[in-house]
Amino acid sequence: MPTKIEKDAITGQNTTGHEWDGLKELNTPLPKWWLYTFYATIVFGVGYTVLYPAWPSLSGHTEGTLGWTRRGEVSAALAEQKAKIAPMMEKIKAAEVADIRKDPEMMAFVTAAGRTAFAENCAGCHGAGGAGAKGFPTLADDDWLWGGAPDQILQTVTYGIRNANADSRVSDMPRFGADQMLDKAQINDVSEYVLSLSGTATDKAAAEKGAQVYADNCAACHGEKGEGIQDVGAPRLNDGIWLYGGDKAAVVETVTNARRGSMPAWGERLDPATVKVLSAYVHALGGGK
Ligand code: HEC
Ligand code: HEC
Repeated sequence: MPTKIEKDAITGQNTTGHEWDGLKELNTPLPKWWLYTFYATIVFGVGYTVLYPAWPSLSGHTEGTLGWTRRGEVSAALAEQKAKIAPMMEKIKAAEVADIRKDPEMMAFVTAAGRTAFAENCAGCHGAGGAGAKGFPTLADDDWLWGGAPDQILQTVTYGIRNANADSRVSDMPRFGADQMLDKAQINDVSEYVLSLSGTATDKAAAEKGAQVYADNCAACHGEKGEGIQDVGAPRLNDGIWLYGGDKAAVVETVTNARRGSMPAWGERLDPATVKVLSAYVHALGGGK
């Protein structure tokens, strides 16, 4: 087949010389703008792999001449964020929790930072927004085991409850059943009496007998009328709010084996400013005193 490059009369372009049954192939060059864009992408692509981490190797990858890493970018952003909040954290660290509560600017910060820190550290036990769960007290109400004043909350959060910290809050309800301090009948009676304090007893005669058992064994911690004593973290028993459940079986179980819930000392795990942020946050959640 003869191949002959000739000029096409209509377009003024050359043909390729290929011809099929009289049809000749036109050799139209790529548009200039397309071609230069194409070259530019090649230059960009090669340049990119030189400047940034790109090519895999047996032991990792090329680092790129700019020294950029995603980790570096994240730490730079974190450092910047930290620097931005540093003055506020310093101010909070130096302030009393009660004063933080009174200062709108600090509280605006506490509301935002506290929500995040609470979700990260506390919500696992105390529930989202401090709603509480069985064994984990609600923090969004004004019923306090250890006290709802700003400094009481700060102390609870800093040193925790029934843990190894020397300043931890401690007080252990005796295991009246397990340690045979009371017999089954006495436990039944005193449990009915406890229920009667919030009007839910079903056995009046037992509740009456239980009153004496209560006065002898329980009033020292829970108060004469079941009003609770915060110095020993003994919950109020006459308000219908229960940490471990208010049905008869739950009360009998508490009296028999006690519960002894514990909380870590957050002062050992978080910096002092964050502990204050959280204390002010918790104080504001519900009915801080
Ligand atoms: C591992 C579970 C756990 C985590 C996590 C936890 N707590 Fe607690 N917290 C408890 C328990 C259990 C109690 C009640 C103990 C008791 O006195 O019987 C408690 C009690 C409290 C109290 C006392 C409530 C009162 O009525 O006096 C405060 C305040 C508190 N927690 C705040 C926090 C804050 C703030 C965080 C996050 C930094 C947090 N807790 C994280 C388990 C936890
Ligand atoms: C040494 C102090 C102390 C004495 C004495 C004591 N308690 Fe308690 N009680 C506590 C503490 C502290 C708690 C909090 C839960 C825990 O740590 O076990 C508690 C919790 C309870 C609860 C659970 C309340 C809830 O909200 O779920 C009941 C019910 C209860 N006590 C009843 C009694 C009865 C009845 C007696 C007497 C037979 C008694 N307690 C004696 C300290 C005491």
